[in-house]
Amino acid sequence: MKFVTENVNQTENIGFRLGAFLPYGSVIALFGDLGAGKTAFTRGFAKGMGLECDVHSPTFALVNEYRSPEKTLCHFDMYRISGFDDLYSTGFFDYLDSGASLIIEWSENIENILPDNCIRVYIEKNPLKDDCRNIEIIGCEEF
Ligand SMILES: Nc1ncnc2c1ncn2[C@@H]1O[C@H](COP(=O)(O)OP(=O)(O)OP(=O)(O)O)[C@@H](O)[C@H]1O
Ligand SMILES: [Mg+2]
Repeated sequence: MKFVTENVNQTENIGFRLGAFLPYGSVIALFGDLGAGKTAFTRGFAKGMGLECDVHSPTFALVNEYRSPEKTLCHFDMYRISGFDDLYSTGFFDYLDSGASLIIEWSENIENILPDNCIRVYIEKNPLKDDCRNIEIIGCEEF
């Protein structure tokens, strides 16, 4: 599925719709450059799951957890992760086993370790229009 967004709210809105649509426990791999809108997408996604929380880049923590009594969303930033050992030390595999939903910024860096059934979201800046983003979502039905 492909979308074009013209501002940050529209990107959040696509995230919201995906978050409301996907079953709990889904793994979402985000791809896209610095400032593409991965965190904005995640903010919408968390709201779509019904989580009221302050979504921000977990660049230093590597993972943020957003919780409600029923659900947890684990938000990873793999910007500084380069290999299996690095990834192991973030607890990534424990989170995968936990049954929580996972959303992963900089999935480029763990491409060969992503679960086969993950949903892939590619966010690309439009080179000609500042606030435009091309978003492609692969691995899920229409929503
Ligand atoms: N159509 C759009 N969609 C998303 N963000 C947009 C859009 N147009 C402008 N922006 C701006 O681009 C920036 C996106 O920032 P965001 O933190 O979501 O990017 P990111 O991909 O998470 O970057 P990083 O790799 O540094 O974590 C915000 O400042 C946002 O306001
Ligand atoms: Mg980010």
